[in-house]
Amino acid sequence: MSAPEIALTERFQSAFAAAFGPEHAEADPIIRPSQFADFQCNAAMGLAKRLGRKPRDIAAEILAAVDLEDIAETPEIAGPGFLNIRLRTDWIAAQAAQLGADEHLGVPSPDAAETVVVDYSAPNVAKEMHVGHLRTTVVGDSIARTLEKLGHRVIRQNHIGDWGTPFGMLIEHLLEVGEDSAEAGLLTTDPNAFYQAARASFDAAEAAGAAADGSDFASRARARVATLQSGDEESMRIWVHLVELSKEYFHRIYDILDVTLADEHLAGESTYNDQLEIVCKDLEADGIARISDGALCVFPAGFTGRDEQPLPLIIRKSDGGYGYATTDLAAIRHRVRDLGADRIAYVVGAAQELHFQMVFTAAREASWLPGEVEAQHVKIGSVLGEDGKILRTRSGSSLRLMALLEEAVATAQTVIDELRPDLPADERAAIARDIGIGGVKYADLSTAHDSDYTFDLDRMLALTGNTAPYLQYAVARIRSIGRKAAAQGVTAAAAPRIENDAERALALQLLEFGPTLGAVGAAYEPHRLCAYLFALAQAFTSFYEASPILKESDQQVRSGRLALAQLTERVLVEGLDALGVRAPQQM
Ligand code: ARG
Repeated sequence: MSAPEIALTERFQSAFAAAFGPEHAEADPIIRPSQFADFQCNAAMGLAKRLGRKPRDIAAEILAAVDLEDIAETPEIAGPGFLNIRLRTDWIAAQAAQLGADEHLGVPSPDAAETVVVDYSAPNVAKEMHVGHLRTTVVGDSIARTLEKLGHRVIRQNHIGDWGTPFGMLIEHLLEVGEDSAEAGLLTTDPNAFYQAARASFDAAEAAGAAADGSDFASRARARVATLQSGDEESMRIWVHLVELSKEYFHRIYDILDVTLADEHLAGESTYNDQLEIVCKDLEADGIARISDGALCVFPAGFTGRDEQPLPLIIRKSDGGYGYATTDLAAIRHRVRDLGADRIAYVVGAAQELHFQMVFTAAREASWLPGEVEAQHVKIGSVLGEDGKILRTRSGSSLRLMALLEEAVATAQTVIDELRPDLPADERAAIARDIGIGGVKYADLSTAHDSDYTFDLDRMLALTGNTAPYLQYAVARIRSIGRKAAAQGVTAAAAPRIENDAERALALQLLEFGPTLGAVGAAYEPHRLCAYLFALAQAFTSFYEASPILKESDQQVRSGRLALAQLTERVLVEGLDALGVRAPQQM
């Protein structure tokens, strides 16, 4: 709740108790933003029903009992019994002054800080990160940043796909091309090309049939899986090298994206290798897993497939191999037991919903995920091309993320070249990077994370609408006002000046920042922060039209408005920072 909502709630609840008896002291006053005033109290209808009386009479009695003198003007009764509330302008001004003095900009500290594990990005070694990974990376990073701003302890976990049967083939291919060859270098620039080449060798060998002595590529790849899994030193060494090269690629992407993931957050699938057997043993011993068709399976309650048959979560295949689910069960136990998670957020594609629901249920049945620890799959929708299908290149192959980001920066470059031909080239290049990357990230973030959206660079980089460049431009504009003010010797007042309607509206919007960020962190919904920042930037535009700053001749008015503009700048920048979007100094 924002400061006005908190204050109004308190006053109305005292009034309910005074007018209708202490048993109504907790009744929800239902304070909502109003079209006709600043807020309205919608409680009269509910109370009337409970008390068996007419809503308008109840509204009149609330009005008689409520003491809003220092907060609001006398409310008006409207319609069936709404109370329209216009806050006192001096009260809003006092709140805005407090906000300005608060280095946390009204972001509440938690009653108890929580440990939140955020599992995000999680690309696969020796494979291109696709736009799906782009989205889990960007949304996950924003969630991590937001939770930190809310005072929680965030543990980032990058559950990269660094283990499994393809590694036999990848190791053999790496040996064949040479560990330091140009082809090996592809792993750091175009990993799909490397993967595809390995795959091609494998498929060709398969088609040709196995050599009697097992010297063909496919046989070697299969044998390599076995030696790797048995911990063979040489195989492990090459595997480490493969992962290292891939890490280089991931970090190049993370750097460009300005994502906070670092090496210390890597906890790939292989991290849990030594736990997999124990996981299976424990689940079997507890009677949670049992052998079915040769495989060790958990049948989590409530999951059925065709014919109402219980759906298995396979944790050990009939050939003895472990899979994705086993690793996730080991990971969840580690996160609760060793990392001390109070909450775990899995920022992963929506297609994996069933997997996570089954893993969570199995982990609960095993008591590895206790009731008080929340686990949530933050489902990530798909990124679509203009044809409405999953985004691919024209040739139909999967898209190189790096190429996509480079294109975004290049497009942003044309935008800024047109907007600010006067700026030096290196400055324009830096701004293009902020706009291009910010635009792509913001498009990911401003759509509800579980819905699909169409990748459209022109729209992402537009200077109007709910886009990063629109918000970045708003910040740059305020900064430019600040620079001009400084040059003219105009200083901002200690507190923002709140007089006219546009100033009131902007101040009320600023007061919503803390509660909005809190809601975003609780529900893992960065798109609500985007919607908020967009509305804030619009409120700023209306304010700036109604309330000129440097053109204003009254010195007090001028510096009070400058203070309001600069408070807006701080909130915009802080909000963008929670999204992981940079605000350039000028645009
Ligand atoms: N590597 C997986 C993929 O690319 C995502 C892993 C998500 N995290 C997890 N704990 N399963 O689809």
